[in-house]
Formats: sequence, C-alpha cells, structure tokens
Amino acid sequence: MKKTFYLSTPVYYVNGAPHLGHAYTTVAADTLVRYKRLSGWEVFFLTGSDEYGNKILRSAKDQKVTPFELVNKMVERFQNLWQTLSISYDDFIRTTEERHIRVVRNVFQKLLSQGDIYKGKYEGWYCVPCESFWLEGQLKEGGLCPECGRPAEIIQEESYFFRLSQYQEPLLDYFRQNPDFVLPRTRMNEVMKFVKSGLRDLSVTRLNLKWGIPSPIDEQHTIYVWVDALINYISALGYSLNETKLTKFWPANVHLVGKDILKFHAVIWPALLLALGLALPQRVFAHGWWKVNGGKMSKSQGRVIDPLQLAQDYGSDQLRYFLLREVPFGQDGTFSKSIFIKRINSDLANDLGNLLNRTLPLVTRYCQGKIPSPGEEKAEDKKLKEAVGAVFPRMELSMETLSFSVALTEIWKVVKLTNLYVDRNAPWQLTGKENKERLSRVLYQVLETLRILGLLLFPFIPPSAQKIWQQLGLKEDLEKQLFEKAGKWGGLIPGTEIQSAKPLFPRIKE
Ligand code: MSP
Repeated sequence: MKKTFYLSTPVYYVNGAPHLGHAYTTVAADTLVRYKRLSGWEVFFLTGSDEYGNKILRSAKDQKVTPFELVNKMVERFQNLWQTLSISYDDFIRTTEERHIRVVRNVFQKLLSQGDIYKGKYEGWYCVPCESFWLEGQLKEGGLCPECGRPAEIIQEESYFFRLSQYQEPLLDYFRQNPDFVLPRTRMNEVMKFVKSGLRDLSVTRLNLKWGIPSPIDEQHTIYVWVDALINYISALGYSLNETKLTKFWPANVHLVGKDILKFHAVIWPALLLALGLALPQRVFAHGWWKVNGGKMSKSQGRVIDPLQLAQDYGSDQLRYFLLREVPFGQDGTFSKSIFIKRINSDLANDLGNLLNRTLPLVTRYCQGKIPSPGEEKAEDKKLKEAVGAVFPRMELSMETLSFSVALTEIWKVVKLTNLYVDRNAPWQLTGKENKERLSRVLYQVLETLRILGLLLFPFIPPSAQKIWQQLGLKEDLEKQLFEKAGKWGGLIPGTEIQSAKPLFPRIKE
C-alpha cells in the first residue's frame, strides 16, 4: 500500500512582503516533503495565504486600495518567492477562496448545531489604535498591546463562543498518550502546562468587522480570523464538500509552524478537531525564530531580511542550505550576512564545489570525458563506499525528527571523506600506463559518490543537485527517483559522457 504524507505550513498573513522567517518555515517543509517523496511516500504539501482581518483592512485603507487588490498583490509576491526558492507545494489555498469560505461556514454551523458554539458576551482586552483583541497572557507588562505598545483597554461586545474549556481534559489525555504530538519536547511541556493552567471558552466571532467570513447564523458577526485560518488544513482537503482527499490524507502527518503560533495549533486546533469528530494531526513541530542583531525582525526598525533579495544576490539553494544547516531546527538563530557568506564559502564552495570541480576535469583529461570502469576494489574504496551507504539510515533518523542540520552534517561527513580520499589517492599523479586501472577506480569511486550525494542533497538544494547529476552525464529527473533504487551503489554506467564542469557554487567575496 502506498504511504501518504500530509504536511502543511501555516497560511501566511499577506499583510506585507514575505521575510526570512516566512521563507524558513516553507523551505523546511519543502525539504521534508522532497525527502518523503524520494522515500516512496505520496505527499500532499499545503501552503497558502491568510487574507482576512483588521490589519489587512487597515493597510488597504492606508494604501488607498481595496482589501482584495492588496491581498492579490501580496499573494503574487509570496508565490513568486516560492517559485524562486523551488517550493514544490501541491496546493496553495487562499482563505478568501470560495472553497475555503464554504467549509468555514459549514464548520461553524455544525459546531453551533451541536452546542459547541454558543452566543454570549465578550469581555476582554482590546487595543483601539490596532483594533485588535488580546488575551491577557498576550499583553506586555503593564497591560500594553503586544503590537504597538500602547495601553489596551477592557471592552464588552456580543460574541459567539467555542466551548474550549470542555476540551481541556480530552486534550491532556491526548498529550499524555502522544508525548511526541508536539516537538521539540520542551514545547510539548510548555503546551501541557498551559492547558493544565485552565482553558477558557474562546470568542470566535467579531462584531462588525467587515473583512472576514460572515458567520452563517448572523452576518453581522464575522468569524475570528484564527479559527478561519486554522480550518484551511481541512478545507484544502474538501471537508464537508468533497471528501476524497480528506479520506486519503487526513490526519495530517505534520503541521509545521513557528513557535509563536504553537498554541493555536496545539490547543485550539486540536480542540476544534475533537469537536468535529476528526482525528488529530500526528505532529505539530514548532521551529525557532530568526533574529537580526539579536532582536526580533521588525519592519519599523529596519530589521527585515528579504529572502528574495538574498536568493537573487547569492543563489536560492545557497539560502536554502544556510537556513537548514546553520541552526538546529527548533532553536532560534541570528542572521548576519557575514555568517551566511562564511557558511556558503566553506561548505558549498570549498567542500562540495571543490570536489566536483577538481574531479570532473580529470575525467575530461584522462578518460576522454567518459565515466571510467570501476575495476578492482581496494580496502579504502570499500571504506568510502560503506560510508556512503551508512548515511541513508542516519539521515532517515534525523529527518524523522526534522533535524535538518544533523542530516546535513551526516552528508557532509561523506563530502569531507571523499575530499580526503582524493587527496590521498592523488589521481592527477596516476597518469602512467601502469596506473591506468587504479586511476579509473579512483575516479569512478568519486563520481559515484557524487551521484549519490546529488540524490541525498536533492531535498535540500534541488536545482543544484539536479545540476550535479547533469554534470555527471545523468539525464534522469531527480524528482522521479527513489532512494531505494537510485541510492544503491553502482548506478553510474561506464562510458557515459560527462558534461564540462561549470562551478555550481562560486566563492562569494566577503
Ligand atoms: N497567518 C498566521 C498563521 C495561520 S496558520 C493557520 C501567521 N502568519 S505569519 O505570516 O505571521 O507567520 C507565518 C510563519 O512564519 C509562522 O510559522 C511564523 O512562526 C513564521 N515566522 C514569522 N517570523 C519569523 C521569524 N522571524 N523567524 C522564523 N519564523 C518566523 O502566523
């Protein structure tokens, strides 16, 4: 039976240009699904845009455009970034699409009919300038708005509520039975603690907020943007409309999110799902934050890193590699251009790039540009071959827990070992007739390792990995490969013509 794998990123707020943090979640997700596809899984990779809410309405007013014009423009920018970064999503859902709106209203109606949603009075913290509601725990010290820092005030209005409090015990039971539901583990503990401290019913509608999905019962009330947004994970699968995809892919294997939005995904979303009678996702993974100069990325303080600019200046694979290699996934990291450049130069230009650049010309020079025959195997050849084979199970272990930097470190052990192998065997000295067979073996050994490295690296740096294969004379599409078959040693066919080596990772001047 075909294994299915459903992974989602959040739907992104399109109130402003995408920044490095957005690129991070999506690049990580793309890497994981590419890995899964190569491992033989049928993948559904969902991303999209979160387009309702007050902030968008206000930005549109400020820019003197309609909210639709604003979100359309922003969605285009997001999609352009995803194309530049080789993001292979299967579906892009916009929360303003009819297919989503219908499902959100169906969900609301169902919960209302079964008594999980009821009408009441909302009393809570509100920031007038931001027109935003806040939970007490979200406020900054002194009751200040977390968004603008001005004092929030208590207001009252009619609202519909979701009986979140009733799901406190069922959620705790689920967490106890599934201690890996949230990863990293420390985050699971935080969520547990939060739920144990008591859940209050959640206000799920806003009165007179025009830019939102009207509730089916009362059009004056629009549905709280977070509830609307979370439902994207099942509206994209056709919940309550056409459930073929839902049957195939639900429950999601992983919801990938940043740590700032974990509670929505690990508390509110599972409670809504329990109320709907749907299975809970297998895992919610909360990654850390990219900071700049040690602080949060902030537009007003001019501390926003534009991933599109970085990709254009230094290469999109370079950016993908850096994001996943530099910081253990789950922890925070600080972005700086000099760390970025150092990492690219040392790993991609020096280690991997050099290996290619110094091997391929030897094939052109001594083997008429064709893959040589392997010939007799010596002990050290075997050692390298075994090291290559050993990466697969290690990579599987690390990808299981989304430890991308660990997986890359394992791959890099082989890159470094192969460079050492080349140094030790010095193929450029094996030019005499008596060394012909040895020269062939050494070069075959390195080229075959490079072929497998291309396969292993495809999830991380897809276009560059494909170019490695092209340079080795391979015409196959890496996207269509399977580790099981293509990962076996000996795939390179002697006599295949290689392509001239164009450096894939030029050194960046600091
Ligand atoms: N629209 C909501 C999500 C709704 S999901 C049902 C949202 N959008 S967002 O655009 O603000 O953030 C999207 C993702 O980007 C989140 O996973 C968030 O954690 C991530 N990042 C935003 N800034 C970030 C950093 N500075 N660093 C790393 N990731 C961060 O939240």
